[in-house]
Amino acid sequence: MARINENYFNLQGNYLFAEIGKRVERFKAAHPDADVIKLGIGDVTRPLTPAVIASMHTAVDEMGEASSFRGYGPEQGYPFLREKIADVKYTRRGAAVDKDEIFISDGSKCDTGNILEIFGTDNKIAITDPVYPVYVDTNVMSGRSGPYKDGKYENITYIPCTIENNFVPELPKDKVDIIYLCYPNNPTGMVLNKSQLKKWVDYARENKAIILFDAAYEAYVREDDIPHTIYEIPGADEVAIEFNSFSKSAAFTGTRCAYTLIPKKVMAYSSSGEAHPLHPLWNRRHTTKFNGVSYIVQRAAEAALSEEGLKQTGEIIDYYMANAEIIKEGLKSVGIQAFGGVNSPYIWLKTPNGMTSWQFFDKLLNDVSIAGTPGAGFGRSGEGYFRLTAFGSRENTYTAVDRIKNKLKLK
Ligand code: MLT
Repeated sequence: MARINENYFNLQGNYLFAEIGKRVERFKAAHPDADVIKLGIGDVTRPLTPAVIASMHTAVDEMGEASSFRGYGPEQGYPFLREKIADVKYTRRGAAVDKDEIFISDGSKCDTGNILEIFGTDNKIAITDPVYPVYVDTNVMSGRSGPYKDGKYENITYIPCTIENNFVPELPKDKVDIIYLCYPNNPTGMVLNKSQLKKWVDYARENKAIILFDAAYEAYVREDDIPHTIYEIPGADEVAIEFNSFSKSAAFTGTRCAYTLIPKKVMAYSSSGEAHPLHPLWNRRHTTKFNGVSYIVQRAAEAALSEEGLKQTGEIIDYYMANAEIIKEGLKSVGIQAFGGVNSPYIWLKTPNGMTSWQFFDKLLNDVSIAGTPGAGFGRSGEGYFRLTAFGSRENTYTAVDRIKNKLKLK
């Protein structure tokens, strides 16, 4: 008799963005004339840059010639890309890493989920709340969460990030083993400065815990004291695994390329208390279960980090950040409190008139045909909040703000 993984029964409803997609499609079917502006899922709209396209074309041509054709590549990624990432994203920021510590993959969503395979199921997990739902759901699937009760999983430690604490998570009172931090934060769009992040690194070092640091929005950091990588914090290379991706920084949401950095010094412990490096475990997992990102895509990612590529993607990021400002100002002008959007493409707003976040989702869709993301979908502390993204086109951003100012009935 084939037995099912019953942990899946513990999941609450559909994956958040699948649920939103379904509701928006239902609305469109009922209102075929509605011009729905999607500011929900954080999907980019600006195309790949010229440097990236040129490099992809060259790589495609190479694949068409016997002399330059490539079959299976190294599972960990081609050295040319690992070296480029080590240089541009780390060494230049004073966070020296070895290129061998970088693993190329097809997405940070997959990596943040898959990384759990190299950890025991008895680890105590901590998440900031609200949180990117993948961290929670993958722990539920692997049996670490315990049962769901009163909007929470019993074995997960939730660290609220709300207006009351200016969205800065406090260290947990109980002892935890694995901590998820995403900064700049999805969904709140808020950040931690170096001294705030240092407290977490110190906690992890004192408690032999591991930080899973999701830096997917790092390219949006504008302010000086905000770290781009957790390895800017001394000692982080002993306790942190970092995830980053080309999705939001170089328009790769459909092209797929990301990387995970596991410093060779990062250790976790066996049941007898013996320290073991995690790097060889992930290498074993990666070589067994993954055959690498395509050569063409890795050449594209390399080009995104060339001087020309960085200039071009920088312009796209400026474009989205100008959208963020337009949205934030628009919300403020109608009396809605809005956060984030300074070092991040996400704007996190307080729902007006005490509406729940799903009520506001319905109102925005029904009144002004704008699809956003209800805060409650990111966890209990997201109730009463709502997320809009700055990833739309400029035209749609202006139209959305105009509708919010002139057509949304808030009274
Ligand atoms: C989001 O909207 O939170 C992100 O697009 C989801 C993701 O990156 O997978």
